[in-house]
Amino acid sequence: MALPQHIAIVMDGNGRWAEARGEPRTAGHRAGIEPVRRTIRECARLGVRALTLFAFSSENWRRPETEVATLMSLFMDALDREVEELDSNGVRLRIIGNRQSLAVRLQQRIAEAEALTAANTRLDLQVAVSYGGRWDLVEAARRLAARAASGALRPADIDEAALAAELQLSELPDPDLFIRTGGDHRVSNFLLWNIAYAELFFTDTLWPDFDERVLAEAIADFESRERRFGLTGGQVSGRGGA
Ligand code: IPE
Ligand code: IPE
Ligand code: MG
Repeated sequence: MALPQHIAIVMDGNGRWAEARGEPRTAGHRAGIEPVRRTIRECARLGVRALTLFAFSSENWRRPETEVATLMSLFMDALDREVEELDSNGVRLRIIGNRQSLAVRLQQRIAEAEALTAANTRLDLQVAVSYGGRWDLVEAARRLAARAASGALRPADIDEAALAAELQLSELPDPDLFIRTGGDHRVSNFLLWNIAYAELFFTDTLWPDFDERVLAEAIADFESRERRFGLTGGQVSGRGGA
């Protein structure tokens, strides 16, 4: 079967990676940057079209203030340090999530990075920061409601395509492969709508240890699956509907 077109990853396990070494959790977040670079590079090399990484959830704001502050400054530094290399590698970067909840300086830096890389076509990279799948759906609902209230949209015309068009990932095909590191088997409010038919891959590998080998394992697993989308196995394999 074909390579996944769009991979979504919940990058989990940084804190436990650090704690296992007797280091503060923030050391795990720092160690989580290199696997991000490796993953982007490898996806581009393989020809994966889109990669969406969960970096900070709407719920992660409830963590201790110092951990949140460290994560925000890591995002800022990573943007500063990486954006030119992303650009020269043909990566288009977009941040998905509730931008208004971020520091104004970070919002500006995000806008600059997005503008710089906007014309790139090799890999669409989305980094989810202050993102929640429920937040995304509520925002979409609010925009549809506003258009309906203004008379621009009839409620009867709201269909799946209309709602999907208002979501953060509206321009991209749905992720076909969803990976979560860190051993937990849950979605944690990541892309609720868009992963309706994603193949799920869970690994005990903690995010700082994620590398090309684990990515290859996830892709090989994906390629071995029969994606039926509600049909029978016979229909999918062309043996007929029986
Ligand atoms: C994922 O690692 C990174 C973020 C959620 C920001 P964690 O920080 O959740 O690491 P664990 O799950 O506590 O090990
Ligand atoms: C999910 O990890 C969010 C990110 C990886 C950014 P969490 O560590 O926040 O998820 P829970 O709390 O274990 O569900
Ligand atoms: Mg976690």
